Amino acid sequence: MPLLKGKIVLLTAGPTHEPLDPVRFIGNHSTGKMGYALAECFAEAGARVYLVAGPTALRAHHSDITTIPVVSAAQMYAECLKRAAQADIWVFAAAVADYRPKEVAAAKIKKSAESFTIELVKNVDIAAELGKLKKTTQLSVGFALETDHELENARRKLIKKNFDLVVLNSLNDTGAGFRHDTNKISLIEREHTTHFELKPKSEVARDIVRFIEEKLHG
Ligand code: CTP
Repeated sequence: MPLLKGKIVLLTAGPTHEPLDPVRFIGNHSTGKMGYALAECFAEAGARVYLVAGPTALRAHHSDITTIPVVSAAQMYAECLKRAAQADIWVFAAAVADYRPKEVAAAKIKKSAESFTIELVKNVDIAAELGKLKKTTQLSVGFALETDHELENARRKLIKKNFDLVVLNSLNDTGAGFRHDTNKISLIEREHTTHFELKPKSEVARDIVRFIEEKLHG
């Protein structure tokens, strides 16, 4: 029997786009590949998956995945909040924009001045906010993309956002991170760290799901 049968997974994926005017936004290079690969693996393992996804060119295939498309961090948070209480496992794979433009112009901003300043305000930290509501029966998994003091920063995130597990992606390894089909991860728990080899993202997703299955089933 699939090990995650009966479990509900809430998963964020992709980038967020923070509007500046009707035709422009601030975004990032996240493709959503990792999150979508995880959604397929969780569904194959028997779980019901709610995939709250920022703008990507990807599409989920498994019939047990419900995709909830969103654009901004605020929308992603609102959709997660609706489903967080029912979910057994939360996975925050989205590359959420940390800041958004303070003002969103109603009409396209015209090129007039020689220089142009955009004031940014902080976005909601979805994982940290939901982390405050987490019950002991729920498992929260975060991602950390670090360039320096990797383990230390990942452990800090584990505590700060009340994660049970942090998937650490190192940008220092060739072939890992944004715009690559491969990733090299370490899984950080409060007491343990497990290192994995450089692998295709689909296999990395399988490793993560298998690890969670073992964590839940002991
Ligand atoms: N995250 C989130 N909402 C945000 C920012 C991040 O849910 N507004 C989640 C990400 O999906 C990821 C984790 O938090 O699982 C870590 O994100 P990261 O950007 O590395 O952490 P930050 O707290 O933004 O720290 P910093 O950018 O300063 O390293």
